[in-house]
Amino acid sequence: MKDSFIINGGKPLKGEVTLSGAKNVALKTIIAALMFDSEVYLENIPRISDVADLIELVRSLGGSAEFIGKNKLKVDGRNLKVKEVDLFYGSKIRASFMFFAPLLFRFGECVVPNPGGCRLGARPIDRIINGMKSFGVVVEYNSETGYYKARLKSPPSGKYRFEKPSHTGTELLILIGLMTDSEVIIENAAAEPEIDDLIFFLTEAGAKIKKHGNTIIVNKSLPLVQKFPFKIISDRNELVTYATLAVATKGDVVIGEISESVISSFLEALKKTGAGIEKLDKNRFRFFYQQPIKPINVETEPHPGFMTDWQPSFAILLLTGQGASTIHERVFENRFSYVEELRKIGAQIDFLREEIKNPKEFYHFNWEENKEYLQAIRIHGGQSLHNGVMNIKDLRAGAALACAALLTHGETIVNGVSNLERGYEDFIEKIGKIGGDIKRI
Ligand code: EPU
Repeated sequence: MKDSFIINGGKPLKGEVTLSGAKNVALKTIIAALMFDSEVYLENIPRISDVADLIELVRSLGGSAEFIGKNKLKVDGRNLKVKEVDLFYGSKIRASFMFFAPLLFRFGECVVPNPGGCRLGARPIDRIINGMKSFGVVVEYNSETGYYKARLKSPPSGKYRFEKPSHTGTELLILIGLMTDSEVIIENAAAEPEIDDLIFFLTEAGAKIKKHGNTIIVNKSLPLVQKFPFKIISDRNELVTYATLAVATKGDVVIGEISESVISSFLEALKKTGAGIEKLDKNRFRFFYQQPIKPINVETEPHPGFMTDWQPSFAILLLTGQGASTIHERVFENRFSYVEELRKIGAQIDFLREEIKNPKEFYHFNWEENKEYLQAIRIHGGQSLHNGVMNIKDLRAGAALACAALLTHGETIVNGVSNLERGYEDFIEKIGKIGGDIKRI
């Protein structure tokens, strides 16, 4: 299988990039569509391998999902026949644990494996399982097989407060809540805009979901029937990848369509580096190099903070800066797989041991006593990078490594690009369009 890029970097990238639909909305709306009593049409669905794998999983359960246009997908969950998600899919797609909702809706019981996805630390789903239990769902875990068994004794009801918010957890609890005949309340819910888009999709089909600050209330919502096709929002993570790349290569790129509110913490951080940002119209931005990049310190946080998915791309920009910057990762453990790879092309990056007063509160993963964590890096900007060979280990790190290769002179090989293609549609074409020299080999 051709799983590498050969990249000839060193040129300023210039032109225009049109964003694809948001991966993390596409996956969730496809799963939610399986709970509709109608056909569901979704627009702006990216042709990425995570979506392709999810479509395969839907079909393996008897449901239907097919592209009827480049980015238009038709989904129908009324024929679901199988109530067990195969471990093969569970290990490939972390969001597969969201199948608890459509399978409990169709069959009243189901079997779902422990999730896979990117290797971003332990990534347990304890909060999510506790949430389902609070709503009255019976869930048992078999540690020998790695499968959860769930059963709906009665319609879900009750209240659950996330001790720390979870993005996909909030979405799953909303879907479970749709089956209530009274109400469910989710407190300290996550606030990512991708969740709002899922809520919008559901309420357009008749769901009764209300948001008051970080509390979400779901009332009796079924049956769900789609009246119009639903167009999902653009991918803000993709925007960050191309925007940082444009500035890092001393280029000038226009990117749309995106609404400012979903990238405001990115724009704030980028502005501090001295990068050029111009808002062209309501949904289009120009990102360009205008002066040497200033070093800055960044901490990742849930929305509305600086997003964890953005830090690998931001690290590439900071490598071109004039001095030392730091990135402190608070959301996931193990999100610096790109550091070792970047060192292979001459990047000077050290891990830092930060003294945090109350790490259990400060970090959003389940912080454990007596475990070694390396959650912060110092990037020494201004060193010249050379060509080499790098290996991609997870999705966002993958995009960052490909972008780093575009900064170097000479041929650089990046292996493991299937990780990147889990989440970036037409990466080669988009980079080519702004003048990057990249081929798949
Ligand atoms: N966590 C737990 N227990 C739980 C749930 C979460 O310990 O029951 C921990 C996680 O391990 C993590 C933290 O809490 O350390 C936050 O996790 P969260 O559940 O909020 O993240 P997620 O839903 O697994 C989604 C996106 C990520 C994105 C984060 C933050 C999807 C499929 N994934 O992950 O996207 O980084 O929210 O917004 O929606 C990506 O696209 O590459 C990606 C990793």
